[in-house]
Amino acid sequence: MTKTTGERYERAAIGLHWATAVLVIVLWTSGQLADLVPKGPLRTDAWSCHFVLGFALAAVLIWRLVWRVTGRRRLPPADSGLLQILAEAAHYGLYLLLIATVALGLVNAFVRGVSLFDLASLPQIGDRELRKPITEWHELAANLLLGLALIHSAAALVHHYILKDGVLARMAPQRRPAPKALTDA
Ligand code: HEM
Ligand code: HEM
Repeated sequence: MTKTTGERYERAAIGLHWATAVLVIVLWTSGQLADLVPKGPLRTDAWSCHFVLGFALAAVLIWRLVWRVTGRRRLPPADSGLLQILAEAAHYGLYLLLIATVALGLVNAFVRGVSLFDLASLPQIGDRELRKPITEWHELAANLLLGLALIHSAAALVHHYILKDGVLARMAPQRRPAPKALTDA
């Protein structure tokens, strides 16, 4: 087991990590439930939320990938040997599945020319016959992403509660320091 040095990820990286996690869970849940909403304007609204949050995740993901490839803070490895290789493979797997799920979702939205809250529609681009297979691939990628994210979260909790090595703390949201005037009062 490797003890961490107390260094943390940058504030922006932590924000992007948790924004990604929340958006993935909300998108997966809304994708599973939207068709249970009665057909009509309410179902259109439910799917519209999925699409708008999907575009938000696409933006967060691009920002995150830029952070990953340009001058991010390098922290010491959390594990060693085979465990470290597995942890890194899981991180690459998460990025690949995020890219695949988001890309297939975006292609799907344009192939369908989806309506957004019945106010506007995306332009319909490409062969409409592709809707069914693309939706199946999108769902498969989404399910694999959620499965790997659950294993990843369980590993983070093992670090926190069993190994007690400070790995979760370096990705935990930071409290802003209280303004000086308040601490003096
Ligand atoms: C859908 C949910 C999630 C996704 C997609 C996700 C994705 C990722 C990715 C890609 C990294 C690697 C960051 C990098 O170095 O580039 C990472 C790091 C990390 N994640 Fe998550 N994560 C999710 C949920 C969680 C949850 C729920 C926890 C805590 C219970 C967690 C704890 C951590 C920690 C502690 C690290 C840093 C690991 C280290 O420093 O080696 N993640 N996450
Ligand atoms: C990690 C992010 C995402 C997850 C976890 C996710 C999850 C899902 C799930 C579970 C379904 C249901 C599939 C089915 O019923 O067979 C779905 C459908 C769909 N998603 Fe996503 N999605 C994500 C991102 C996106 C993005 C970025 C877009 C594009 C804006 C998008 C567009 C769609 C479309 C067009 C459908 C089909 C809608 C329909 O059946 O009428 N998704 N998604």
